[in-house]
Amino acid sequence: MTASYRIGPRPESIDAICVPAHPAQDTLSAEARSAQLEEARQMLTQRGAVLVAHYYTDPMMQELADLSGGFVGDSLEMARFGANTDATTVVVAGVRFMGETAKILSPEKMILMPTLEAECSLDLGCPPDEFAALRAQHPERTVVVYANTSAAVKAQADWVVTSSIAVEVISHLQARGESILWAPDQHLGRYVAQKTGADMLLWNGACVVHEEFKAQGIERMKAVYPEAAVLVHPESPEAVLALADRVGSTTQLLKATQELPHEQFIVATDRGIFYKMQQASPHKTFIEAPTAGNGATCRSCAHCPWMAMNKLDALMQSLQGDEQAVQVEESLRLKALQPLQRMLEFTADKR
Ligand code: 13P
Ligand code: SF4
Repeated sequence: MTASYRIGPRPESIDAICVPAHPAQDTLSAEARSAQLEEARQMLTQRGAVLVAHYYTDPMMQELADLSGGFVGDSLEMARFGANTDATTVVVAGVRFMGETAKILSPEKMILMPTLEAECSLDLGCPPDEFAALRAQHPERTVVVYANTSAAVKAQADWVVTSSIAVEVISHLQARGESILWAPDQHLGRYVAQKTGADMLLWNGACVVHEEFKAQGIERMKAVYPEAAVLVHPESPEAVLALADRVGSTTQLLKATQELPHEQFIVATDRGIFYKMQQASPHKTFIEAPTAGNGATCRSCAHCPWMAMNKLDALMQSLQGDEQAVQVEESLRLKALQPLQRMLEFTADKR
């Protein structure tokens, strides 16, 4: 049985920060691009810092992570890499919850971000006090929160999960006879409940990027590319998930492009991941799942506006001081650490 509770507020400020679909960096000459990358690489070296980037950041950010001995991955892998690296300074190119997770796991490290203003609509749509009120009404339920939450929400959880491990963790809890209070992503929660049959009470948050993918548009696109496989991140609406050949986290979708025999892929996730998909399979074709059509908004660009704030110049700026350091208050950190560690221990056997 599943139940829903409330609609998480959509941040009104999003229109103000939406960036042009194709960042200016993409128009740089090859020479200028190499020079910028080399300058940023040297700054990372001088600072003794390692760069951990999410797949949704600009291609240049991902390229810099690769060429400087850093890492590009999904949110679970970023957490693991940040915790295991010997570097004392880690630059997290992603959104705030990713920087916070790194700090919670490694308080002794300096965690810098190109911008501390990179939010996430799931995090914003789940205020800690409102979540505490719901939790208080359901003390019998095991509290499982998505990684895309603030430290203050994680601190209230029994478990933290990412999309790559959510089904396994919930199956494990269901086998122990536990009922679940889930937050904040309603689409991922519903998908996991359907996959596992678990009793999950869902918070109704949503990702502003994935919520914009349209089933009708994908069906029309399938008619144009009948041989294409459809890849969908589980933050997408139910009707879009129903059309998927593969549902998974960003890394799982990237792997699908290498494992599946298809030559064409319709991809329903942030287009930042196309950089790695194309790099892994240069001969294959990747097509953005449509976000236009009825109900489309200016947000309908398949690119997270907060991920897009991670510009190379902002990264270089962050390396010049400590102003962009992530801070998590110690008592909060210790509370948020427990469910995060539980997740990492659970996944350690599955690698
Ligand atoms: P992944 O865990 O798949 O990297 O997803 C993070 C995210 O924010 C997706 O929108
Ligand atoms: Fe959050 Fe969606 Fe951006 Fe991912 S793509 S960081 S879920 S707003």
